[in-house]
Amino acid sequence: MVALVAGAAGGIGAALGEEILERYRLRRLFVVSRGEPPACFATQRVVALRADLLAPGATVELARSVAGFEARLDLVFNCCGLLHDGALKPEKSVSAIDAGALARLFAVNATLPALLARDLGPLLRRSPDAVFASLSARVGSIADNRAGGWYGYRASKAAHNMLLRTLALEWRHAQPRTVCLMLQPGTVVTPLSQPFLSARTREHAMTPAQAARHLLDVVERVAPADSGSFLDWQGRAVPW
Ligand SMILES: NC(=O)c1ccc[n+]([C@@H]2O[C@H](COP(=O)([O-])OP(=O)(O)OC[C@H]3O[C@@H](n4cnc5c(N)ncnc54)[C@H](OP(=O)(O)O)[C@@H]3O)[C@@H](O)[C@H]2O)c1
Repeated sequence: MVALVAGAAGGIGAALGEEILERYRLRRLFVVSRGEPPACFATQRVVALRADLLAPGATVELARSVAGFEARLDLVFNCCGLLHDGALKPEKSVSAIDAGALARLFAVNATLPALLARDLGPLLRRSPDAVFASLSARVGSIADNRAGGWYGYRASKAAHNMLLRTLALEWRHAQPRTVCLMLQPGTVVTPLSQPFLSARTREHAMTPAQAARHLLDVVERVAPADSGSFLDWQGRAVPW
């Protein structure tokens, strides 16, 4: 198997990369991160690639680099995402909506996965049974939005789901052996979620390693007919 994890220095991305290394007889694992890759990836089977995937041409360049090593990819996991950083906080009210912040959230959470799928798609197509999985969030569900708030993050994850659902429909004809999934990892203790975990939610939150095991279990259970699904970490459909 040849696998690639994007966002491999993030909480869930690093754990997924480790779990993939442990679970499969891999020919190669590509890990993609902006900064230094975690030390656990310093093994012969891993190729660490450094990239800001939103830089112009970055996903085209990534596909070229992968193709320099391998003719195909069997599993791609996109674990990149943005909820907050120094300058950006989830909006509690419409008065907090900011055009620049919205544009950044859409770029990381929706545009980046679509570009990744566009440019790695031809490598996935060469696999007899490939999976492209991208981490979404339950708060991106329009039907399930009962709490409100977090305008930009919610909307960018809804856009993520629409882009990848549309792609899955195209791939059904163009490359029917590639399954495209949107996955909700559950509540996981990572730098992304930490500032928003109450004592109660923290009690029930998963470690990245637990989440990674569940997510790979889900990926192992899917069939081509599941392509285009939005599934949680237990494999249950999440309402759109
Ligand atoms: N944690 C949760 O409870 C939870 C719940 C629901 C959904 N999710 C989703 O799960 C995914 C992973 O989240 P996480 O909790 O593991 O968050 P995290 O630890 O903050 O990881 C996010 C990763 O995205 C990467 N990234 C952001 N912009 C990028 C860019 N332009 N180019 C390349 N990489 C970029 C970051 O890279 P750097 O390391 O360089 O910053 C980081 O590694 C996200 O999509 C998130 O929305 C998480």
